[in-house]
Amino acid sequence: MQGKPVKFLYLSEPEMIEAGVLDMKQCVQVVDEVFHLLGKGDYLMGGPRENEHGLMIWFPEEKRFPNMPVEGPDRRFMAMIAYLGGRFNVCGEKWYGSNIVNPKRGLPRSILTVMLNDADTSEPLAIMSGNLISAMRTGAVPGVAAKYLARPGAESCGCVGAGVINRACLMAIKEGVPTLKRATIYDLDMEKAAAYAKEMSALLGIDVVPVGTLKETIVDADVISVATAGASKALIPEEWLKEGSLLTLTGTAELTDETYLNNTVIADNWKMHQAWLTEGEEHPKGVESILSWAPSAPIIKLILDGKMVHDDIRSLGDIASGTVKGRCCDNERIVFVTGGMPVEDVGWGYQVYQNALKKGIGQELKLWDEPHWF
Ligand SMILES: NC(=O)c1ccc[n+]([C@@H]2O[C@H](COP(=O)([O-])OP(=O)(O)OC[C@H]3O[C@@H](n4cnc5c(N)ncnc54)[C@H](O)[C@@H]3O)[C@@H](O)[C@H]2O)c1
Repeated sequence: MQGKPVKFLYLSEPEMIEAGVLDMKQCVQVVDEVFHLLGKGDYLMGGPRENEHGLMIWFPEEKRFPNMPVEGPDRRFMAMIAYLGGRFNVCGEKWYGSNIVNPKRGLPRSILTVMLNDADTSEPLAIMSGNLISAMRTGAVPGVAAKYLARPGAESCGCVGAGVINRACLMAIKEGVPTLKRATIYDLDMEKAAAYAKEMSALLGIDVVPVGTLKETIVDADVISVATAGASKALIPEEWLKEGSLLTLTGTAELTDETYLNNTVIADNWKMHQAWLTEGEEHPKGVESILSWAPSAPIIKLILDGKMVHDDIRSLGDIASGTVKGRCCDNERIVFVTGGMPVEDVGWGYQVYQNALKKGIGQELKLWDEPHWF
């Protein structure tokens, strides 16, 4: 029998941009579709629980070999794998490494690639630069959350952290909440806040104003987007949260236990956070190993202390697909926590790959004309 040639598309970052990776309107639509599929169960992520965020290389605390990296803040390699059903019907992986000193070397902190494969034959379909897929899909998640969970007629957004991710978050929240009229931005670095405000006002056509205190950005906000990085977490007292507000946590903030206990808590996909807990329980250092970085760590602690149960937390996919109720009334306050999932990378990556095929963008590469052995 004649062997089959296998070719795939390579898409560099400029080609990804040409193919529309920065189109937030389309990204929010696709990530919304992804959450519908999650709610129906038409997806698989890695591991026996089918809900693993990813498989991480844990570097050791002490040097074992001259070249082996050691543990450090934001120092990791991660393989994030998924099958996504529906019209996507594709398998894929986001593979990345992160090193906090990279920006001093002229590199982003994390460097990401996304690979897509035919779900039946496993042939590679595409290898793509993944940094913008990841930033855009991360922003799209609070946008989809705001679509389903913001109070009707929400007008104001408070942003905490003026980095790349919160740019994407505000773009997406504007898509998810068409009534949005204004936003404020608070960052420890006032210059970054000012630059963010200028850029986002021009991009979105709404007033984005830098403010000098965290409180100012929280108290008036119908939707709050926290996307800070680093050790200094924003401390948000419960009484600052307006009635009916939606607090989205893409980066972690410091909230009181009561904030979680007194208000509605919704996750992107609680099964994934449960898988993190199990991973922690299996780690040689125990659950402590995940509590320093897992975005849901404060909720997991409340569960371990017997103050909450897993069923207290709803998942966005169930709300998007209509199997579980979202907001119950206009004055309900909701805390939304997201950890990021490979299904989002595969969904948005697949869409941009389809766009590239239609527009003839990218470089076709060959795996083989005929497999050497089969
Ligand atoms: N959930 C996901 O899928 C996902 C994916 C990617 C990144 N993230 C998270 O998003 C966050 C933001 O990432 P980024 O790449 O935009 O980071 P970044 O470093 O570009 O920006 C973070 C900003 O937060 C500011 N900041 C730090 N602490 C603050 C505080 N206490 N109050 C106000 N501002 C503060 C910094 O000055 C900085 O401007 C990170 O925590 C990252 O882990 C989440």
